[in-house]
Amino acid sequence: MRSKIVAGNWKMNKKFDEADELLYQISEELSNNPLKDVQLVVCPPSLYLELATDFAESSDLKIGAQNVSHQKSGAYTGELSVEMLNSVDVEYCIIGHSERRKYFSESSEMLAQKVDNLLEFGIEPIFCIGEQLDDREAGNHFDLVKKQLSEGLFHLSASEFSNIVVAYEPVWAIGTGVTASPKQAQEMHAFIRGVISEKYGSDIAEETTIIYGGSCNAKNAKELFSNKDVDGGLIGGASLIAKDFINIANSF
Ligand code: 13P
Repeated sequence: MRSKIVAGNWKMNKKFDEADELLYQISEELSNNPLKDVQLVVCPPSLYLELATDFAESSDLKIGAQNVSHQKSGAYTGELSVEMLNSVDVEYCIIGHSERRKYFSESSEMLAQKVDNLLEFGIEPIFCIGEQLDDREAGNHFDLVKKQLSEGLFHLSASEFSNIVVAYEPVWAIGTGVTASPKQAQEMHAFIRGVISEKYGSDIAEETTIIYGGSCNAKNAKELFSNKDVDGGLIGGASLIAKDFINIANSF
């Protein structure tokens, strides 16, 4: 179901005490000033997932993982399975982040498998797509985003697809301080909704949550979120400061 979501991707940041403190600050803020119609999600490093789901029990916060194995269980040293995420009450999982595609060579087949495993356990994938600067400069950005969507997700049935959150993250905007303009974001989000509509029909497309990521912060969130096809944000750097993160969630 389409909803407003602001999710914080902490990436590989925060030591245990710092993670504990940040989760405490976010949940305090949420209980003092509850958010209206926005789901706040925190995606900490896996080591802190159980700590985070404990905080989430007593607040409106939901917890997501940053990654999961495409294998189900067994001899895969260092990996975490969907079943493990489920066993500590994780409700979302980021899949296909450009950093994983780039540094860990994650293929579309692998991503599609991860999505299937997550859906089997009722965990919502936050599926990331987005072009490099070169693709945009060459005018290939729409084709590329369509390819990522169809390779990673379009094997799903319509009812399975209705559990997906799509995150559009132009790679050139991630961690650079250069955000997509509200016009660029709206244009791509409308395109993504159109591609989903072609595949699954307009009802499913209208019900899909599509969030934006890439240098989104407390200053530019309002302008980005005011676009009709932008349903929230996937926030990196600015999600590491409780006040900024909450301000972003209050930017609708
Ligand atoms: P920044 O907000 O730091 O640009 O990161 C965006 C991101 O990659 C979220 O997944």
